[in-house]
Amino acid sequence: MKVGIYYGSETGNSEILCEDIETELGAGFDCDIQSLADVDPSALEPEAFYLFVTSTYGNGDLPSTALPFEEALTGGKPDLKGIRFAIFGLGDQVFAETFNHGSEKLAAMLVAQGATQVGERGIHDASSFEMPEDIALPWVQGIMAQMAADKAA
Ligand SMILES: Cc1cc2nc3c(=O)[nH]c(=O)nc-3n(C[C@H](O)[C@H](O)[C@H](O)COP(=O)(O)O)c2cc1C
Repeated sequence: MKVGIYYGSETGNSEILCEDIETELGAGFDCDIQSLADVDPSALEPEAFYLFVTSTYGNGDLPSTALPFEEALTGGKPDLKGIRFAIFGLGDQVFAETFNHGSEKLAAMLVAQGATQVGERGIHDASSFEMPEDIALPWVQGIMAQMAADKAA
């Protein structure tokens, strides 16, 4: 199965995490890591599965590299029925009022266009003592287990 691992990142943490996720998934998946800057939402495929990883910047916004993707979603309103995705957010509790709002907003935008979210959104807090991969990799395993269970049902 093709797994598109797409990141919105300002300083690279989300991109590095995507590489860790690809390694965690192993050779059984056809992984494709891309910046959201290079992804056209209308080109997403129902046969694939998508893992979005994004940080939050500004006033609870997506990072600037992901803004064209946001614009293509909200302006172009592509039909995403049949598209399945999961999402992991990187943020910092220091920004209490907008903590991880970027990933929350992106999930809502994808669902609004008809996509189906698999599992709960994963989140990382840069103010915690945990590394992003220590939260995200067990989360990915849970998501893929749910995908397998959904397929078997
Ligand atoms: C200027 C600035 C603004 C930020 N704003 C927020 C925010 O509003 N909410 C939040 O949860 N995290 C915020 N963060 C934290 C980042 O999302 C977090 O450090 C993340 O790990 C960065 O990942 P990236 O390198 O992939 O962009 C901000 C960080 C910076 C430097």
